[in-house]
Amino acid sequence: MLAKPTISDQAYDTLERELREIEAAHPELVTADSPTQRVGEKPSDAFPSFVHHVPMLSLDNTYNEEELREFETRIRKQVGDRPLDYMAELKIDGLSIALHYQDGQLVRGVTRGDGVRGDDVTPNVRAIRAVPLRLHGKHVPSQLEVRGEVYFPRSLFDALNREREKAGEELYANPRNTAAGTMKSLDARVVAERGLDVFLYSVAQVTGAAFPSQSRMLATLREWGFKTNPESRLCHGLDDVLAFLHEWQEKRESLEYDIDGVVVKVDDFALQRELGFTSKFPRWAIAYKYPARQATTVVEAIDVQVGRTGRLTPVAHLTPVLLAGSTVARATLHNEEEIARKDVRVGDSVVIEKGGDVIPKVVEVVLAKRPKASVAWTPPETCPVCGALAEKPEGEADRRCTNTSCPAQLEEALKHFARRDAMDVEGLGDTLATQMVQTGLVKDFADLYTLDYDQLLALLAPKNVKKESIAAKNLLAGIGKSKDRELKRLLFGLGIRFVGERAAMLLARHFRSLDAIQAATVDEIDAIYEIGPAVAASVRHWFDQEPNQTLVERLKAAGVRTEETGDAPASAAFQGLQFVLTGTLEGYTRDQAKAEIEARGGRVTSSVSKKTSFLVAGAEAGSKLDKATELGVAVLDEAAFREKLAEG
Ligand code: IVH
Repeated sequence: MLAKPTISDQAYDTLERELREIEAAHPELVTADSPTQRVGEKPSDAFPSFVHHVPMLSLDNTYNEEELREFETRIRKQVGDRPLDYMAELKIDGLSIALHYQDGQLVRGVTRGDGVRGDDVTPNVRAIRAVPLRLHGKHVPSQLEVRGEVYFPRSLFDALNREREKAGEELYANPRNTAAGTMKSLDARVVAERGLDVFLYSVAQVTGAAFPSQSRMLATLREWGFKTNPESRLCHGLDDVLAFLHEWQEKRESLEYDIDGVVVKVDDFALQRELGFTSKFPRWAIAYKYPARQATTVVEAIDVQVGRTGRLTPVAHLTPVLLAGSTVARATLHNEEEIARKDVRVGDSVVIEKGGDVIPKVVEVVLAKRPKASVAWTPPETCPVCGALAEKPEGEADRRCTNTSCPAQLEEALKHFARRDAMDVEGLGDTLATQMVQTGLVKDFADLYTLDYDQLLALLAPKNVKKESIAAKNLLAGIGKSKDRELKRLLFGLGIRFVGERAAMLLARHFRSLDAIQAATVDEIDAIYEIGPAVAASVRHWFDQEPNQTLVERLKAAGVRTEETGDAPASAAFQGLQFVLTGTLEGYTRDQAKAEIEARGGRVTSSVSKKTSFLVAGAEAGSKLDKATELGVAVLDEAAFREKLAEG
């Protein structure tokens, strides 16, 4: 809870588990400030926004000592030669947060947002162990808003990335962005698991307490149970501040968290009030930013990595160089346009920079050092992993591997294929999909249909053989059942670029088999009502790839249905009509109503506009009904909808 925990994390976990057990047996004993209440059990839908009682401002920045001296000169003009103490605090590179307490209880946690309005992320804030749910001490204020910085401890961040690497997942770029992303998680358990931490450094509002200075305020926050940064130092004059700055510029790598500078604050609150604010910043504080950490080294090779979506990312392999406390041997080059813009070549000396990011980037080429024989880098035309064509569509920065069977892409692709709204392979979740690809059992979608009971059982790694054997049987049945899904689901599941559920439905309805699509020209595809040229080109392109043709053949051979077996569309009576569904219908679920409309060639959209032909309004229709009335859109109640369906 404080900077120095009195017990180990392991001991904490054991105690917490015991408490959970007691509370489970005696729910009447659970209090709002029990540590077990830190983590909400269920993810919420979204965060309500909250208007800050006092705007969350940021600070003016300086990058050198001269500007820091000017800062003091400006202050001196106003305060004369009275003694001037400063609080020097590390500038934590995280995300700012406001914590609200009423009568000593945590009631709300809000992100900075745009400074005026933030997200109310109370459940996530409660999941941060260092945030006290209840304040300690004798003189706990009745109202309090404290502010500080949430951060991702480096060691935990590194551990998380190591895990992700093992799991073949994309690495997180840096602790700050990951902390920010984590705080936006709709599941507070993620926040708790990841171990975010916090330092508090200011009081925005307080009733029932007062402080004479920043240093005394920080001391009081600690008494109440808040974690403040232990390195903060009261400096008597600017020279002390400069010593602090230099000291931490050297030592910053030894910290458990990233800092991007030092915040210098006039300590005395009476003086702070006298100095006041400019239109944007307080006059009594300034942020001294450390320079970006740069080094020069040589590009030994340029390598291309393939991401989950088939995206090709060029990476520079460098002569290892020490940068900001670690040895750097690789730097991202983002994409080929970026390489071209900077004209980075193998053999070049380059300036690399570590911002807040784990992966350093190449800033510029030192042209004076370019070897005579150097040649410009050319992007690969084939995927370095699978050898399939790698293409860069007009107007896009990225080149992509065109082969859905590419192992680098397959994992994500398989998850998509198995999704409920695609092939709906019961029992095949994300983790299993990953395992299937990583163990080499599945190299393309068709392999899924070759797996037998023993292979699945081995994959499920039976601890409890009985349970797992049932799971293996169920999964086998789930895979089997998915062979008979409608064509539109298969088309969607294949993951063809730009082919979402709707395009898949239109293609399936029009062509009625994969073979027919395979035989169609771009123009024929493009001619389908509502299919645009980008979709048409992408579909044609996908079927032109040899590995995809093989895949289609193998799917067919495995018994996967690739044809529409039902009747041809009932009619085209609703062709060109747009429907919006709202409220609850008695006779139809949303999906059924949608299917009925689409079977008649109509289209269902989510919001009412002037283009809407009919609003189908069931019971308890809300704002959409108001909107439709306002725009003069025809409204069908359930009976009228039924009649309309009968017409077509
Ligand atoms: S004081 C009126 N103290 O740096 C603003 N800020 O631009 C008061 N930060 O957004 C901010 N460590 O999120 C203050 N010890 C510290 C800080 C700190 C990090 C962040 C804060 C703010 C930005 C300043």
